[in-house]
Amino acid sequence: VSSRALPFAPTTMLAPMEGVSTAPFRALIADKGGVGVVSTEFVRINDHHMPSLKLGRLVERARDDVWLSVQVMGREVSHMEVAARIMSDAGADIVDINLGCPSPKAVRGGVGSAMLKDHVLLHRVLSTMRRVVPRVLSAKMRAGFDDASGALATARVLVDAGVDFIVIHPRRRVDFYEGVADWRIIRMLARELPVPVVGNGDVWNARAALRMRDETGCAGVMIGRPAMRNPWIFTQADALARGDTPFSPAGADVARYMRDFVEAYSTTMSRVPVGRVKELVRMIARAVPDRGFSRRVLMEQTVDDILRRVDDEVGPLSPQELDLDAEGSLRLERSGSTIEPASEEGPPPTVVDEGLRAIT
Ligand SMILES: Cc1cc2nc3c(=O)[nH]c(=O)nc-3n(C[C@H](O)[C@H](O)[C@H](O)COP(=O)(O)O)c2cc1C
Repeated sequence: VSSRALPFAPTTMLAPMEGVSTAPFRALIADKGGVGVVSTEFVRINDHHMPSLKLGRLVERARDDVWLSVQVMGREVSHMEVAARIMSDAGADIVDINLGCPSPKAVRGGVGSAMLKDHVLLHRVLSTMRRVVPRVLSAKMRAGFDDASGALATARVLVDAGVDFIVIHPRRRVDFYEGVADWRIIRMLARELPVPVVGNGDVWNARAALRMRDETGCAGVMIGRPAMRNPWIFTQADALARGDTPFSPAGADVARYMRDFVEAYSTTMSRVPVGRVKELVRMIARAVPDRGFSRRVLMEQTVDDILRRVDDEVGPLSPQELDLDAEGSLRLERSGSTIEPASEEGPPPTVVDEGLRAIT
């Protein structure tokens, strides 16, 4: 059983998110507490970057007590070997490989989700990385490229190559972000694999994080978009797990979060891009029942105008008027499920792994 325990605590992770999981954002999330690991966005590894990768703030630690996972994306064995060594030397507690990116650019380059189909390549890349990563090596995979039936077989290749744990985001590449994550696939991997499995996808409130553990038996939970929307989600989940009363943010807390976000970025940039602030505010708007707010705030032209509108419209709201409490009481977002997965239209994807057939 101990071999299926994760080496960090709490056993929660901030997901890698391109353009989002930067050093200032990781620090902001880590400071709210309750998270065991924060991940970098992916670093694309190719000839141009090798062997002198410019790391800059990429590997900046958020806090001593929160682990740092650095994600690399690439397919050239020799480059991935050098990259894994560079990241380890730079202080990564975990080196993670991206096996899920669905973007057309990644797929054209044969990286990210495109690698799920090539088990020979996966084994070569991962076993080479294994030899040079002295600490923890992980792989973050989608359930498949156009078909989820090979998820378990793919995961077994990764385990055989020596990864310490696997993160599974149970959507296929062709799903992009459609529908709802199919937590049955997390359950299947958690039951079948000899290494810890971290579940990811549509954990929209703290209660859902506990429910994912209960329903799937996963060793850890990774959270991405819902942590942009609710940076307190990790500390809320931690409180629920301990039987404490979780914090329920009010509008004033959200307004302060927006300002802290802008301030954190202004330490590294002379001008915080309005697009980056809008990306965050778009997520926050998903916790506000008045759908008109999203339209109004996204029409603002400057960061100051956005902050002012958040102060005016969100600032006065009580915790009960926001969907940010630990239970997700207003249910503005649909969390994943082992019972009712997949898209609203049509049947769930056909999953024919023997492990899954045995348990559904
Ligand atoms: C803006 C954005 C950027 C992302 N960038 C990455 C990335 O760099 N590497 C990666 O493995 N996944 C990336 N993902 C996927 C997330 O890590 C995660 O698997 C996905 O969002 C589902 O989890 P969630 O429902 O908790 O958001 C990204 C997702 C988003 C929304």
